Amino acid sequence: MRSSNLILEFKGIDTHYGDLHVLKNVNYEIAKGEIVCLLGGNACGKSTTMKTIMGVVRPTRGIVTFEGEEIHRLPTAERVRRGIAPVLEARRLFPRMTVFENLEMGAYTRAHGPEFNEDLERVYELFPRVKERRNQISGTLSGGEQQMVAMGRALMARPKLICMDEPSMGLSPLYVEQVFDIIQTINKQGTTIFMVEQNANMALSIAHHAYVLQTGQVVLAGTAAEMRANPMIREAYLGEMQVPAAAQ
Ligand SMILES: Nc1ncnc2c1ncn2[C@@H]1O[C@H](COP(=O)(O)OP(=O)(O)O)[C@@H](O)[C@H]1O
Ligand SMILES: [Mg+2]
Repeated sequence: MRSSNLILEFKGIDTHYGDLHVLKNVNYEIAKGEIVCLLGGNACGKSTTMKTIMGVVRPTRGIVTFEGEEIHRLPTAERVRRGIAPVLEARRLFPRMTVFENLEMGAYTRAHGPEFNEDLERVYELFPRVKERRNQISGTLSGGEQQMVAMGRALMARPKLICMDEPSMGLSPLYVEQVFDIIQTINKQGTTIFMVEQNANMALSIAHHAYVLQTGQVVLAGTAAEMRANPMIREAYLGEMQVPAAAQ
């Protein structure tokens, strides 16, 4: 049963900012070991979904569970301690710190020990560029490099689930491919991934399941293969025009 293997679940979630009702009775089921992708147009509540998982905003109704336990009332730090790591919009590195210091911050829940060095080596192996730049001030890195540091920092926490908000945003095509390759590698090494992505083509090429949000409501859910075959998705997110029958 899929439901016995869930790592994260939204049950009937509503989220508001003051009077603005953003998420409306949203349900997600993220199974352990999957890459799940959240698609949707501008301002439909994708980032709000990620913020609701991390506890940056609190839902006004409904339940969020992680490994079967309710987490929606817990502070962000406790959610991180339980194994959820964010790679949120704009990357939010500490810009005046070096790359190495940013990676250290990712592991702040643990003291430096053999594990720290192992994790650091793993990050440097996944991101050779990050290793090269380890002593550089983070604010001076390119966008693609900052994204890699942000992903590396998330991995330093040894998370069970990584929540990514638009990991390919603002990256050149070469970096986009690298970032998606690395997401897939991280997943194969055992970490569940929930990501928001505008680049639906790339996202659906590595995802197992996907959800589509429209003005705060889930309008479609299914496997990545079903999504790729869906005419509505092909037209709205994969950049394919529907050819009128008369023109065929
Ligand atoms: N902190 C906030 N305060 C008030 N409104 C917000 C806040 N954050 C987002 N919103 C509004 O909530 C809606 C959904 O935003 P968001 O989840 O960021 O959308 P997106 O799908 O583009 O990531 C938007 O209309 C946005 O303007
Ligand atoms: Mg957003």
